[in-house]
Amino acid sequence: MNNFQYYNPVRIVFGEGQIKQLADLVPTDARVLITYGGGSAQRTGTLDEVKTALAANGQREVFEFGGIEANPEFTTLLKAADMVNEHHIDFLLAVGGGSVIDGSKFVALVASMTNEDGTVSREQAWDALTSYCRNIDSAVDLGAVLTIPATGSEMNSGGVINYSERQAKLAFGNPLAFPKFSILDPAKTLTLPERQVMNGVADAFVHVMEQYLTYPVNAKVQDAFAESLLKILIEEGAAVKADPKNLETRKNIMWTATMALNGLIGTGVPQDWTTHMIGHELTSLHAIDHARTLTIVLPSVMRELKDSKKDKLLQYARNVWNITNDGTDVAQDDDAIIEAAIVHTENFFRELGLPISLEDVDLDESAIDPIVKQLEAHKMVKLGEHGKNDLAVSRRILERAV
Ligand code: NZQ
Ligand code: ZN
Repeated sequence: MNNFQYYNPVRIVFGEGQIKQLADLVPTDARVLITYGGGSAQRTGTLDEVKTALAANGQREVFEFGGIEANPEFTTLLKAADMVNEHHIDFLLAVGGGSVIDGSKFVALVASMTNEDGTVSREQAWDALTSYCRNIDSAVDLGAVLTIPATGSEMNSGGVINYSERQAKLAFGNPLAFPKFSILDPAKTLTLPERQVMNGVADAFVHVMEQYLTYPVNAKVQDAFAESLLKILIEEGAAVKADPKNLETRKNIMWTATMALNGLIGTGVPQDWTTHMIGHELTSLHAIDHARTLTIVLPSVMRELKDSKKDKLLQYARNVWNITNDGTDVAQDDDAIIEAAIVHTENFFRELGLPISLEDVDLDESAIDPIVKQLEAHKMVKLGEHGKNDLAVSRRILERAV
């Protein structure tokens, strides 16, 4: 196992009906800006529940900013940041999924970057984003009410921002962006359309894979934990499809997605975010849902990099899919075992209704050149646990995904 530091200050408040805890979690004299997405928080009554909880205690001043898009837009977020300054907001409360929480983290980090006229500087905010928001040393406090389990944003310090005008979808991370708390009410997820539920299961699955599928460093806790999370997602993905109203299933999916990307399984192990980085380009060029880009790319990453990932692929086959030489599946040799594990992975995605090829989203090989160009423009030229996945490797991955 490699050396590591692990720091995660997010208070998790989990369970049905827990939104009422906002009355105590948000400072009683705060000037609060509630941020939300395209309308689901209003439609489902969650926004009202949040406002009622905030009004139950103290003298908070509450403002609202709605309309943060799925794949949150840079320009929209700058408007929210202007509102922070205009109303002297000192607490941001994100109500929604990864897009709203990521977007609110970005607002928290860039709100102080003002021009002389008091508006937030587009140039400074863009410079900050292109340098991963690394060098920012102050931020507005932030809390979250999670309504879709998927990204882990509720318990990490990262985010991904889309800037359509520049065809860029860029990640950032800064410890100041950790939410002070996140409320996880699994009952809130019952209103999700099936497509979003399945997206969430797949996103969490790929998060685990990208922290697991590299090379062994004898990190037994991280490996066993990752394998358990994968098995739970396989089981509960099928369960939620068969019985979407089952709250126990929703609870397990919600907590699994949080644990998949709160930093724990990624400590002390190599990581490979190739699938995500290629996926971000697919979203920014073709507006494909985040998770769907991942299910298209991951199987090809596994096939293209099967030699460098061989030991972990065999471990994945054995411990997650129960494929062994002597046993339960057809496999005879290492290559066949690995291919069987990849096919199991593809079938799992397919059963959730997710695409596994470019063809499945009506793209063909003509999509590849522009994606490779964008990877180059965004300096994604040394991906992978060894930093060896250059543009030629990414191209081959995409060619396999046609
Ligand atoms: O916008 P509204 O109307 O709220 O509708 C949303 C949205 O259309 C809807 N929704 C959310 N909760 C609902 C609901 N509909 C009904 N009932 C509910 N309870 O679901 C749609 C998708 O929401 P979104 O927030 O976009 O989904 P998700 O949580 O999957 O977030 C995706 C974003 O997170 C980024 C992705 O790149 C993408 O931009 N990621 C963030 C990460 C992080 N911070 O660590 C890691 C991930 O890899 C991911 O990249
Ligand atoms: Zn993701």
